[in-house]
Amino acid sequence: MAVSTARAAGYPSLPALPDPGTDAVLASGLLQELAYAFGGPFHFLLPGAFDANLRDLRAALAEVDGFVYFAKKANKAAVWVERCAAGGAGIDVSSVGELREALGHGVRGEDVVVTGPAKHPDLLRLAVRHDALIAVDSPGELDALVTTAEHRRARLLLRHTPPSQPGSRLGMDEAELRTALRRCSEVGERVSVEGFSFHLSGYALQPRTDLAAVLAGWCLEARALGLTADRISIGGGLPVSYTDAAHWRAFLAEQHSGHYHAGRSFAPGDFYPYHSPLAGARALRALLAARPAGHTVSLADLLKRSGVRLLVEPGRALLDRAGATVFRVQEVKERAGYRILTVDGTSLSLSEQWFNSEYLPDPRLLPQDASAPVGGYPAAVAAATCLESDLLTWRKIPFPVLPRAGDLLVYPNTAGYQMDSNESAFHDLPLPPKVVIDHLGRPRPRWRLDRHFL
Ligand SMILES: Cc1ncc(COP(=O)(O)O)c(C=O)c1O
Repeated sequence: MAVSTARAAGYPSLPALPDPGTDAVLASGLLQELAYAFGGPFHFLLPGAFDANLRDLRAALAEVDGFVYFAKKANKAAVWVERCAAGGAGIDVSSVGELREALGHGVRGEDVVVTGPAKHPDLLRLAVRHDALIAVDSPGELDALVTTAEHRRARLLLRHTPPSQPGSRLGMDEAELRTALRRCSEVGERVSVEGFSFHLSGYALQPRTDLAAVLAGWCLEARALGLTADRISIGGGLPVSYTDAAHWRAFLAEQHSGHYHAGRSFAPGDFYPYHSPLAGARALRALLAARPAGHTVSLADLLKRSGVRLLVEPGRALLDRAGATVFRVQEVKERAGYRILTVDGTSLSLSEQWFNSEYLPDPRLLPQDASAPVGGYPAAVAAATCLESDLLTWRKIPFPVLPRAGDLLVYPNTAGYQMDSNESAFHDLPLPPKVVIDHLGRPRPRWRLDRHFL
């Protein structure tokens, strides 16, 4: 039986949104078996949720000519690449390793987009050989690509630095874009300029709509130079909602340093926006339906009229509810008015601490049996390392039953960036394995380790 958090002694809770997939895993009893088998923390992955997110995003794009690339940086598991290959989606990669993974797990080179700055020559060479689309980040990179592409035509996008984020280190400003376009038209057949790209920091939708329209304008300018320019990529950044509006609002209004271990404090702006009124595919629909600044029609209409294909590179949004992370409580320490649960892993399996932030959705406690006292038990969650500041959760989470050594703690919805982007084998602790859970609808789900062939 999993117990949810409840308000305890004035400590705000942030329950995750309903998630039947994760609930089914928790109810199946599988997690206790897996915790016994692995003897340490592990992640479980739900490919069914990824498939559903992909379906929804594609449906949102149905109105325009669109294509979805999964931003692989958001999670290293092979199963997502397998699902993209099976479902005809592409992959956004930024290293030779990620490109190898994409190809090795069945995604065709032409369905790969290569992003990131200052790409290694080996990455450029491989990308050209496999007909991948390359988002060129700088004039220097364009030169390197032209040299690389001596015997093959390089497919490329030119990445634009968002004018609203002029301090960004990524992409090219207007003057650089113009120089790059001239250079591309001079080198002729060696490159195919397929369009333009951007990735905006933050999660606001209107700036994405506005900049997409600007890039559509760049396509027209490039076509006047005889270049193909029939697509734009708007990168990632589709928001994910982890909790409901009421809990999020109350949390932001109420939280203060007394709610955290060691009196730590966070400003509201330090946190990811854990609630968004429009998230995932609904956000994409809204982005397409919105009117870009200076235009009288929606972005969708503008793209159709201009004959411009829309490429998106969601990472987090494709992984919404597609995985969770399980730790075992090793010890419970008493402190004045709260407890510290020390679990069998580290905060490096939960990322957000390394951005001076905190992963806020409440973990679910799986008590070993029904004998735990019921009440309100605030507790922070610490790692089994010798570092004073290695806490998974500084916040005193209000648990409705007393956590005890041996209980499991399940952090929900961790597949998008939380579970493995900062993992490390610190203290020679093994990296938590990833378990893929299939057949959730059946009485007994089936599980396997990620990576069939390794
Ligand atoms: C170029 C590019 N595309 C896509 C993404 C994925 O973003 P998200 O996971 O927020 O969708 C990123 C994230 O940094 C990025 O830099």
